Amino acid sequence: MTLTIDIEPLSSVLGASVRGIDLQKAIDKKTKEVLNRAFVDFSFLCFPDQTLNAKDQLRFANFFGRGDGGVRITRRDSGQRRTGKRGVMFVSNIRKDGKPIGVLPDGEMQFHTDGAHRESPYRATTLYAIKIPSKGGDTLFANLYKAYEALPEKTKNRIEKLVTTCVYDYEAQDRSETVAADPILPHAQHRLVKTHPASGQKSLYLSRLMTQKINEIEPDEGEELLMALFDHAEQPEFIYAHKWNVNDLVIWDNRCLNHARTDFPANEERMLRRYTVSEPNAPETT
Ligand code: OGA
Ligand code: MN
Repeated sequence: MTLTIDIEPLSSVLGASVRGIDLQKAIDKKTKEVLNRAFVDFSFLCFPDQTLNAKDQLRFANFFGRGDGGVRITRRDSGQRRTGKRGVMFVSNIRKDGKPIGVLPDGEMQFHTDGAHRESPYRATTLYAIKIPSKGGDTLFANLYKAYEALPEKTKNRIEKLVTTCVYDYEAQDRSETVAADPILPHAQHRLVKTHPASGQKSLYLSRLMTQKINEIEPDEGEELLMALFDHAEQPEFIYAHKWNVNDLVIWDNRCLNHARTDFPANEERMLRRYTVSEPNAPETT
């Protein structure tokens, strides 16, 4: 069998594009291994020009772990909490009968990592671009291995053993909206420095939107340290900005990347289909 997969780096920071593979079709074990290797090496993969239905995307998600086949998510709209249904999940600003069809807020979103509110965060997230605005709406990815590496030794030692509380409000775009500890928000504890199980490399694990506090440090001092670490991890030298094209399928590694979204015109439609990938042994919780 000839492998004609063409893997090209997208930037010097992270990411690669993958061409020469049709994800509508079944792929063999060897190809799966090649894709998993590239996923660990580049942390973000983009497969341009794919024509995929929801089933195809879920099959793709399953190459990398346990594809999450349904929406297990809640969203508060106009003060009302709504429970998502099992089925396809969209990220979109489109409204149908006045109700959002998507699961995340519109417009800009601060840096975060999917599933930090769970004890076992999502290993990866896949997005497939269906409608893209004429400008903005880029997804920014930050390399948390590089951010960790660039810290002074003193800081690395200081944070090595610290544990944080991470929360997620499905409606929040900004830290100021989640920081008031709302007991109904799902939350979990995570080490500030984690070792990636596949690469063996250390990375920071924190984000402006979701990391609420450092458990072992007094609130004021903890907040100061977190702010300095957020600012550090969001420097341009660690970031790749993905400018979307319709029919892009992307997957990223939530264990070593943060992501954010830039604003886009509210009167233009943006729609992506989303499946997350869980650790195979993760409980089926939100
Ligand atoms: C997500 C997400 C960002 C975007 O799907 O988890 O954060 O650009 N998406 O829509
Ligand atoms: Mn996200």
